[in-house]
Amino acid sequence: MKFFVDTAEIEAIAELNELGMVDGVTTNPSLILKSGRDILEVTKEIADLVDGPVSAEVVATEADAMIEEGRKLAGIAENIAVKVPLTWAGLKACNVLTNEGRMVNVTLCFSANQALLAAKAGATFISPFIGRLDDINLDGMELIADIRTIYDNYDFQTEILAASIRSVNHAFQCAHVGSDVMTAPPKVIKAMAEHPLTDKGLEAFLADWEKTGQKIL
Ligand code: G3P
Repeated sequence: MKFFVDTAEIEAIAELNELGMVDGVTTNPSLILKSGRDILEVTKEIADLVDGPVSAEVVATEADAMIEEGRKLAGIAENIAVKVPLTWAGLKACNVLTNEGRMVNVTLCFSANQALLAAKAGATFISPFIGRLDDINLDGMELIADIRTIYDNYDFQTEILAASIRSVNHAFQCAHVGSDVMTAPPKVIKAMAEHPLTDKGLEAFLADWEKTGQKIL
C-alpha cells in the first residue's frame, strides 16, 4: 500500500520523506488554510520535495472553471494530480483533464456508486472518506472493500486512495482490504510505529545491558 501524507506542512512532509515513507501528498482547501501558505507556492515546494503525485484541489464548482483551475494547478509541476469533487461537474472536469493526460484525484467520495462513476470518468485516484462516514455511524472501511470488489470485477485502473484516515486502526484496515493508497496525517503514520510492548521490551533490554557494563562503541 502506498503512503500519501495528508498535509500541506512542508517540515512534516520532509521528515517522513527522509525515511522513504512518502509515496505522495494530498492537500485540500482546509489543509492550505491550516498551513497559512499561498496555494501555488506551497504546492510547488511540495511537488519539488517529493517524487510521487501531489494532489492540489480546485475550488470552482462549474466544470469549465474547474478545468481552467485544474490546468493551472497541473502547470505547477509534472507530478501534480488535480483534485476535483465528486459532482457531475467534477466528473466532467475529470474526464476532460484525464483526456489531456493529467492525473486526476476525485475527492469527497462517500458511496460505491460514486466510485464507479469516477472510474468510468477515467480518474487516476478515487478518494473515499473513511473517518467522515464513521462519524455518522456508517462503516467507512466497508466502502473501501466494496470499491475494491467493484474495481477488481471490471479491472478498472483507478487507484483507491483511502482518505479521512484518523487512526492506526484505519491504516491497518486499509491495507487489509487492499486499498491501493492511504493518505494520512503525519501523526497517524508516526503512531503506526508505536506499541507498548515495544517500549516495555526496550526498557528491559537497556536495563540488562547497563548491568553487563559493556559498550558497543
Ligand atoms: O484527505 C481528506 C482528509 O483531509 C479529510 O480528513 O479528518 O477532515 O475527515 P478529515
